[in-house]
Amino acid sequence: MSEAALTRLGILISGTGSNLQQFIDACACGELAATIALVISNNPEAEGLQRASRGGLTTTCINHREYESREAFDQALVDTLRMHEVDIVILAGFMRILTPVLIRPYLGRMLNIHPSLLPKYPGLHTHQRALAAGDTEAGATVHFVTQELDGGPPVLQARIPVLSGDTAGRLATRVSKMEHIIYPLATRWLVAGRLVLVNEGACLDGEPLPPSGVSYSEGLV
Ligand code: GRF
Repeated sequence: MSEAALTRLGILISGTGSNLQQFIDACACGELAATIALVISNNPEAEGLQRASRGGLTTTCINHREYESREAFDQALVDTLRMHEVDIVILAGFMRILTPVLIRPYLGRMLNIHPSLLPKYPGLHTHQRALAAGDTEAGATVHFVTQELDGGPPVLQARIPVLSGDTAGRLATRVSKMEHIIYPLATRWLVAGRLVLVNEGACLDGEPLPPSGVSYSEGLV
C-alpha cells in the first residue's frame, strides 16, 4: 500500500447497523486493512450506535432535525469527517438524501449499499417492488455515490433467486446476508487503491467495470 493509502473510514448510519457490524469485524480481524475513525448517526436512537460503542469506536450523533437545510446538515457532516481525518465515507443504511456539499468532497471516496439490483429500484421498498414486478432475481449493489440518488456507478452486485412464497421480509433477510459479504469486499478494493472512479465510471484493477459492476461469486477477492 502506498503512503497515501486511504485507510480511515467514516461510517454513516441511521438504524440497525448490521452492515456497520461487518466493518467492525472485518477491521478487527485484519480482513479489511482500515481503521474506523468515526461512526456518525443522524438518528440518536440508532441501534448501530450501541454496536459502535461496544466495538470501542468513536461515535457522534448529528441530528438532521437540528439543521435548517440539507446543505447545513451536510456541511456539519463534512466538518466532522474532516476533523477526524476520514478518507473514505461508507454509507451503511444512512437514510438521508445527500447534497453536493457532502458528495463533492468525497467523490470517488464514498460508497453506498442498496438492497436491489441497480439500476432497478432506486429509492425505498425495493423488495416489495421486486416481488410486485414478478422478478425472479433480487440482490444488493455496492456503488459509488454521485449526485444521482442510488445512481452512481455500480461496483459489486450480489444476485439471489426469488423463491416461491417469498415475502419482502424473507427476501430482505437473504439479501442482507449478501450485503454483509459484498460491502466489506468492495471497500477492500477501494482501500487497496484497486477501485477508482474515473470520468464517472468505476474501474477495478485498471479495467472499466460493466454497467452493473462486478457480479459477486464465492471466492472473489
Ligand atoms: C440495508 O438494507 C442497506 O442496503 C440499506 O439500508 C439497510 C441498512 O441495514 N441501504 P443495516 O442498518 O446495515 O442493518
